[in-house]
Amino acid sequence: MISHYCVLQVFVNITEDISQKMAKKKTIFACTNCGAQSPKWAGRCVQCGQWNTMQEDFAVQESAGFAHVSLANSPPVALQEIPDAGFDRVPSGIGELDRVLGGGIVAGMTILVGGEPGIGKSTLMLQAANRIASAGRRVLYVTGEESLGQTKMRAARLGADSEEIYVLAENSLETIIGCIENLSPDLLVIDSVQMVHRRDIHSAPGTVAQVRQCSVELICLAKRRGCGLFLVGHITKEGSIAGPKVLEHLVDCVLYFEGDRFHAYRMLRTIKNRYGSTNEIGVFEMTESGLKDVLNPSIIFLSERDETQAGSAIAATIEGSRPLLVEVQALASRSAFSSPTRRVAGVDASRVAMVLAIIDRHTSFQPSGSDIFVNIVGGIQVGEPAGDLSIAMAIASSLSQKPVPADCVFAAELGLGGELRAVSMAQRRLKEAEKLGFKQIVLAPSSAEALAGRSSIGIRPFRTIAQVLNVFC
Ligand code: TYD
Ligand code: MG
Repeated sequence: MISHYCVLQVFVNITEDISQKMAKKKTIFACTNCGAQSPKWAGRCVQCGQWNTMQEDFAVQESAGFAHVSLANSPPVALQEIPDAGFDRVPSGIGELDRVLGGGIVAGMTILVGGEPGIGKSTLMLQAANRIASAGRRVLYVTGEESLGQTKMRAARLGADSEEIYVLAENSLETIIGCIENLSPDLLVIDSVQMVHRRDIHSAPGTVAQVRQCSVELICLAKRRGCGLFLVGHITKEGSIAGPKVLEHLVDCVLYFEGDRFHAYRMLRTIKNRYGSTNEIGVFEMTESGLKDVLNPSIIFLSERDETQAGSAIAATIEGSRPLLVEVQALASRSAFSSPTRRVAGVDASRVAMVLAIIDRHTSFQPSGSDIFVNIVGGIQVGEPAGDLSIAMAIASSLSQKPVPADCVFAAELGLGGELRAVSMAQRRLKEAEKLGFKQIVLAPSSAEALAGRSSIGIRPFRTIAQVLNVFC
């Protein structure tokens, strides 16, 4: 009888243990792009519509130590009684980084730095850490991906030798928090957020649950202590790793590194900034000894231009509030197939398809039988519609084999009726073209009117794409 009871008791204990574990490790699926959760796997996220982003995850139970987060335990205050907050900014010492941050780092500011692997996030962070530490502030650089030796090697390459930088090679959130409490840094860098994990959350580092929970705790700690926090996050083109996207709403500032890692030039773009303007860009060049500020990017992007070649046109674009002249190249070659190839780099493929349809419908040029390739020189991205006209000019010039005049820049959006449309900040585009020695700018009539009498270079207004092509190609 006793032995039967013992066997039964052991069985009950085992099943209780299993059911407890099952309760803690309830499997769910979370989207790596937007963080949406679902009890079932799906090929497409129902919230953000992205494909192949649902990843197995575990629901976190209260008992697993989900932190209660409260920034300040204070009653509501009337808006009028809140004193004006003058933010003291600590410059990072890197001009282009300060530009995108809005002048520097505010106490307690949390900044997410996202980008593809190998683009230069760790390099920039170590350079910024060194400059800030050289100004007498204490910096804790937590590296979860590289060893202390590797970080030392990188620091030697960058000439980073400040006494106030402390490096911690650690992935465990509990240990990192312990070190922060002991060291009291003024700036904390977590490289990368996908490697940090809490032991009591039953999912692998880099999953949505780990990344989000660890980040929330680090952000709250930084706010409480008034220390600046950089969270580095990898993002792949396929969005296959949980990371920056699920954190964007938690941090004060989101910076994304753009560019091609095979080119030397990198852009740091502000997506969100609670302490400054958004849509700023910083331009860097990756050199043997780290990232260097590029003060006049237009000169560099145009430096290798061959003015006698057909298929090239200069676009006067604006990145954030910064004018940028870029070279658009196009190559049109007779297609050997019934459905010609279209390949683009640096511009949206659907934008180019629209420009091709406009050329086909509203001008005498016939791009439909040609393979078309469009490229923005320097590995940069042009997102604004003001680049439409220069894309059309480059394509038409390649089709006609007639070079576009070398002293001319273009800034206009194309409407579906073939008309040129006004662009924002025309004055800034014009000034940049003037500065770089261009002699004429082609615009829509309304943009030209706004600039009348304010320029030393020729302003050429045109109503339609057909008229522009008649004159130039
Ligand atoms: P890294 O900062 O490690 O990229 P991420 O942290 O975004 O993954 O930079 C990686 C690349 O930069 C690597 O290919 C080597 C190159 N690099 C230089 O060209 N010069 C330098 O001084 C350093 C430190 C890196
Ligand atoms: Mg790195």
